Amino acid sequence: QKGGHKHFMIKEIFEQPKVIADCLAGRVDLKTGTVRLPELEGLTSPKRLHIVACGTSFHAGLWGMNLLESWARIPVRVEIASEFRYRDLLLDEDDVILAISQSGETADTLAGIRRAKQMGASVIGLCNVVGSSVARESDHVIYTQAGPEISVASTKAMCSQLTALYLLALHWGAQKGTLSAEVTQQGIAAVHELPGLLDAELPAMRERSKELARKYSGVSSFMYLGRGLNFPLALEGALKLKEISYIHAEGYASGEMKHGPIALIERDFPTFALAMRDDLLPKVKSNLEEVQARDGRIIALTNPGLDMGVDDAWVIPEVWGPLSAFLALPCLQLFAYEVADYLGKDVDQPRNLAKSVTVE
Ligand code: F6R
Repeated sequence: QKGGHKHFMIKEIFEQPKVIADCLAGRVDLKTGTVRLPELEGLTSPKRLHIVACGTSFHAGLWGMNLLESWARIPVRVEIASEFRYRDLLLDEDDVILAISQSGETADTLAGIRRAKQMGASVIGLCNVVGSSVARESDHVIYTQAGPEISVASTKAMCSQLTALYLLALHWGAQKGTLSAEVTQQGIAAVHELPGLLDAELPAMRERSKELARKYSGVSSFMYLGRGLNFPLALEGALKLKEISYIHAEGYASGEMKHGPIALIERDFPTFALAMRDDLLPKVKSNLEEVQARDGRIIALTNPGLDMGVDDAWVIPEVWGPLSAFLALPCLQLFAYEVADYLGKDVDQPRNLAKSVTVE
């Protein structure tokens, strides 16, 4: 059942190359450089998009917002479902809700869908479980096709959600003409290469995560920092660590550090930084210098050729544009997994948590 692995979580982390390939299958045409999403037939690109989700699915939504705004020029809000459902909402026929849910049974997400529909908005469900409540109640459904996720901590489902969001942004960008055919083609060719690349990298990532887990598992708190597309990943890294290892972790936007949390930094409150090459890297570097000035130790997930000058650089290959998330995410998951396993925690069944949250 666990395919020779010790836990479902590690099995599911290693399934991610296949998850990306399965989510792409039939949806991208390499020859013509186009994305096909027949699930959205009859729906033009939204005037306003509201992404509604909880937990890890919410983090996927935050990441997707960046691509949808930049490629498809659609104004996007990303909302925690338990907040969205009770707000005095301003929605009408021009609004589209994108409900992201692995299980398709999350009570708050479902309630959000129902309210939005009452107000005339249309709903796209981005779900993993076929025939789930979210799938049944949405006007359009995009299935993530990640296969059953058994471990309570969500891993491969997020990978599949990111893949689908990436395709959605390419699709609407091409449909609206806000994204050039050239960039669309580049994006398709690059994502097509990902499964092979990730598959080749995962064993080394696991080794590195083990080394770092042994070094850092004695601490009682961790800070996760990232900017831009890496900010949602910082939130996700912190969530993974806290939920399975019970080590306190905070995910923050790097630039927000100096507005409070920097007061916490000391030697035994290390930082896990997402410091891959992008336009914001110089800013991230200066944030990390602020951490070092307070004696804070740093693990930096980074790319070849970047001298981060930190305690522990974790070097991963550089890939096209926003695709770095697909390499960073497994590193965050593996680090949390190895820390929890090293500490002897019940990785697949963390205390107080259920796989699908069907009550509010
Ligand atoms: C974290 C985790 C949860 C879920 C959240 C939403 O590892 O699993 O945060 O992501 O409960 O669940 P779905 O996506 O099923 O609506």
